[in-house]
Amino acid sequence: MKVALLGFGTVGVGVYGMLDGAYGLEQGPVLVRPGKDDSSFKVTEIEKIVNDPSVGAVAEVMGGIEPAFSYVSAALAAGKHVVTSNKALVAAHGPELAELAEKNNVAFLFSAACGGGVPFLHNLALATESDKILSVGGILNGTTNYMLDAMQRRGMDYGDALKDAQRLGYAEADPTADVSGLDALRKIMLACAVAYDQLPAEGLHNEGIESLTAADVAHFKARGLTCRLLASGGLSDEGRVYAFVEPVLLPASAAECAVLDNFNLARYQGENSGAIILIGQGAGRWPTASAVVRDLSCILQGQRTMMQAGCPRVKADNSACSRVYYVRLPARFEDMLPLKEAEKDGDLLRAVTEPMPVSAMHEAAAKLRQAGAEVFFAAMGE
Ligand code: HSE
Repeated sequence: MKVALLGFGTVGVGVYGMLDGAYGLEQGPVLVRPGKDDSSFKVTEIEKIVNDPSVGAVAEVMGGIEPAFSYVSAALAAGKHVVTSNKALVAAHGPELAELAEKNNVAFLFSAACGGGVPFLHNLALATESDKILSVGGILNGTTNYMLDAMQRRGMDYGDALKDAQRLGYAEADPTADVSGLDALRKIMLACAVAYDQLPAEGLHNEGIESLTAADVAHFKARGLTCRLLASGGLSDEGRVYAFVEPVLLPASAAECAVLDNFNLARYQGENSGAIILIGQGAGRWPTASAVVRDLSCILQGQRTMMQAGCPRVKADNSACSRVYYVRLPARFEDMLPLKEAEKDGDLLRAVTEPMPVSAMHEAAAKLRQAGAEVFFAAMGE
């Protein structure tokens, strides 16, 4: 099968290199922006790909929502299979694209969009056929895991750790989505869509690591705790989906603490299987390219879908989960949270809350910030 590429950045160059005839997959044309360069395999108009009868599949690795959405729609409408590593696109338009794929009898697969090289969504989709999935989640962003690990083990400061993650090709073009937790949130949205046939699209919460300081990390380290950015999704007792991302402080015995550098840890809890944990590189050229090629290979084996066509969008209920939180905030704002224990550190308070709903903590942090407070918070364990 000849595969055309949309985009030729970190992941695209990797995928192109892997389409060497092995696994029944061959190099096709590559769509680049006009003026980039004029190598014979590069084209600058999408029509040259969608109207090329020799192209069987399109791998979208350009990122962003537009023009990716228009191009992928055109490819599916033209009867090309599509695989994508673009979580922003699938989180925003997955249900329509899955519907268009079904209508045109072609595949729409996106396992590279969640977990990088980790075969998470494939295993999750398989698990739904024989087990009830109680929860999904884990470390789903390689950039922030790399940064948290570099700050904890190598004493790096936030800015240097981010620059390193960018240099190594882990971060998004605009790393705001990584450090704010939005990238991991999009990934947990996809995992929920695969596990529950519902795409949580409203009522979501993401707290990243932007306000984490070297002093916070030293404070955790002195107490034997490690900070990880965890995504969580699942079904509440009332059957409503929850989905959120937040920093979590974990004891050294937690599996997540052994997940270093750009690695991800993706997990699901099956009613019968119990906890299933997959660990691997969640970002970077070759791990992500391997996932794109794996999806293409699954198409050759007959797989067509990961998300139900027209999968309904639902409002998440993050009040269903409760956590105790560690919070660092200016001491004068202490009345704005239900604090149980607090320790003064100059003008700051390092405090632990009473158990509170996830949504309430995220909303309280937003109010504190509106009032001018610099706040960092993390759940104390999951
Ligand atoms: N920027 C993403 C990450 C790339 O760091 O995980 C892989 O999705």
